[in-house]
Amino acid sequence: MKDSILVTGVSSGIGLTTARYLLERGFHVYGSVRRGAGPGELTQMPGFTALNFDVTDRPAIRAGVQRILDDGHRLVGVVNNAGVAISGPVETVSEAEYRRQFEVNVFGLVAVIQETLPLLHAAREAGFQSRIVNISSVSGYLTSPFMTFYSASKFAVEALTDGLRRELLGSGIDVISVAPGPVKTPIWSKGREQTEAFEDNRYSHILPKLGPYTEAAEAGGVEPEVVAEAIYRALTDKTPEPGVLIMRKRWIAKLLRLTPKRFQDRFFTKRLAANRRF
Ligand SMILES: NC(=O)c1ccc[n+]([C@@H]2O[C@H](COP(=O)([O-])OP(=O)(O)OC[C@H]3O[C@@H](n4cnc5c(N)ncnc54)[C@H](OP(=O)(O)O)[C@@H]3O)[C@@H](O)[C@H]2O)c1
Repeated sequence: MKDSILVTGVSSGIGLTTARYLLERGFHVYGSVRRGAGPGELTQMPGFTALNFDVTDRPAIRAGVQRILDDGHRLVGVVNNAGVAISGPVETVSEAEYRRQFEVNVFGLVAVIQETLPLLHAAREAGFQSRIVNISSVSGYLTSPFMTFYSASKFAVEALTDGLRRELLGSGIDVISVAPGPVKTPIWSKGREQTEAFEDNRYSHILPKLGPYTEAAEAGGVEPEVVAEAIYRALTDKTPEPGVLIMRKRWIAKLLRLTPKRFQDRFFTKRLAANRRF
């Protein structure tokens, strides 16, 4: 029986890199993809199994979990990585889009946790370490303008992580948040396509700024391997930190969080004007 980890959203970015990183370190990896057999670089590696589910589709998640049970592998970790980033002003983002933000990043994560927890309890009760790692964001610590729904979803992920960890204290299952700042992944190019909420309205003057702003953030981002290593450590360290913030100059974010909200307002306004994130 092999120790296995479920990673959601392995088609690209952090999920893809994390799946590869865990496979290279001897885990069996179940990676969720919404379509197809999974990325070629994973399907060619021994120990990878693709599960086909959208995190908003509970019966499909259940079928994926059944596959893990049928294979007879012990599930010792779940990495809730699948996510989307919706940008735009609160005033104009469509209802369908802001609901999608929460359906994927929050309710999808809850569904995966609820369906996999019985397997994690079983591993723990058999004497094995078992962990849930939720991929949050620096946006779960601080809220940038025009990323408000994304940020709200990651604040929810932080609360779910802390609350669930406290609920599971007696069970020995640990629940950890890994919160990256900017990372070089396709999520940024997907975001640049979302311009509808800025078109023909009082926020239109922001739109030309967003391209350079996100490009600067992506350029200053860390490689996904850095996040994969932090996820690996969250899954395997004896006593991991319950919340890990990964970014260059993370002290700025930590300090900024302690400052008065009006100061934070000025900080974000200046950053946006200068096409810089933090
Ligand atoms: N990149 C950053 O700067 C950054 C910073 C902080 C936090 N994060 C977080 O890191 C996580 C991974 O993002 P990434 O940067 O690696 O972006 P990415 O390359 O766009 O990866 C997102 C993954 O989530 C999957 N996904 C999206 N919607 C899904 C759904 N409804 N059901 C199942 N899977 C779904 C995508 O699959 P499809 O290919 O099928 O869409 C893809 O595999 C996200 O939670 C994100 O919020 C990223």
